[in-house]
Amino acid sequence: MLTRPIPSTGEAVPVIGLGTWRAFDVGTGEATRQPLLEVLRLFLDAGGRIIDSSPMYGRAEAVTGDLLAEVSGQPRPFLATKIWTTGRERGVEQMRRSDQLLRTDVIDLMQIHNLVDWRTHLATLRRMKDEGRIRYIGITHYTTGALPELARILASEPGIDFVQLGYSLATRAAETELLPVAAARGVAVIANQPLERGDLFRRIRGRVLPGWAAEFDCASWAQLFLKYVLAEAAVTCVIPATGSPAHMKDDLAAGFGRLPDERQRQRIRTLWDV
Ligand SMILES: NC(=O)c1ccc[n+]([C@@H]2O[C@H](COP(=O)([O-])OP(=O)(O)OC[C@H]3O[C@@H](n4cnc5c(N)ncnc54)[C@H](OP(=O)(O)O)[C@@H]3O)[C@@H](O)[C@H]2O)c1
Repeated sequence: MLTRPIPSTGEAVPVIGLGTWRAFDVGTGEATRQPLLEVLRLFLDAGGRIIDSSPMYGRAEAVTGDLLAEVSGQPRPFLATKIWTTGRERGVEQMRRSDQLLRTDVIDLMQIHNLVDWRTHLATLRRMKDEGRIRYIGITHYTTGALPELARILASEPGIDFVQLGYSLATRAAETELLPVAAARGVAVIANQPLERGDLFRRIRGRVLPGWAAEFDCASWAQLFLKYVLAEAAVTCVIPATGSPAHMKDDLAAGFGRLPDERQRQRIRTLWDV
């Protein structure tokens, strides 16, 4: 799979990650967990590493921890989760709980979810990083309206390794409002909601994938949507969520082969915007 370096360290990470919102918020039944186990196996076998969760996602951290224990022996995933509460003590307690649920002593990337109480948590995360209890610090949001604040924080606060934001073919404000700042500040970018929670598929229903998509090794609409986002050099990783092994295979294929060049990206935008 293609990789990109995390600017603050140079560590290479694969470009296709895995989101867990809704898809991994399931009960203990064999019938619901079996496909998710398969999703994780496919993901890790193809070279995927970044798995993104949050205490906000119901049972998703617990399910991720349970299933990863079953696929042990695979290359170690890069665990990204979030802090989503107010106050220093509650934040520390929540992160302790995330460690337990994800069954790890060190979270690779701890992100401040939707910037909730970010000043308080940033101070805590800096200390935890110094102590080796987390490896990277991130901030997240998903709305276009939050991009200016994310940009202001990146420009003024040192020590932030990652920013996670909403970016898809349908929601492109990040291209002008945030990616240039992230690139200039040397901050890794995770693109969330790259499929607009599945809405992109509803919008192209009945339309045939153009033949020219093969010019950048793209065989499906999902791959076109993901490759469009990955073609931005400032994007480090994209994190589609899925509970379907067939969709996981489809999404993973976007991490291989050529990406669209600027002329091809313009063609994709034109196709989408009409
Ligand atoms: N503020 C934040 O920090 C924040 C906010 C939003 C999201 N996130 C993160 O970003 C991740 C991704 O965003 P998201 O889950 O909201 O939405 P998304 O990844 O844009 O879309 C997920 C939807 O697309 C469908 N899908 C995936 N691959 C497909 C394929 N190849 N063909 C057809 N359908 C496909 C999935 O259904 P199936 O399960 O049927 O495949 C699911 O309904 C989240 O899970 C979460 O980890 C973070």
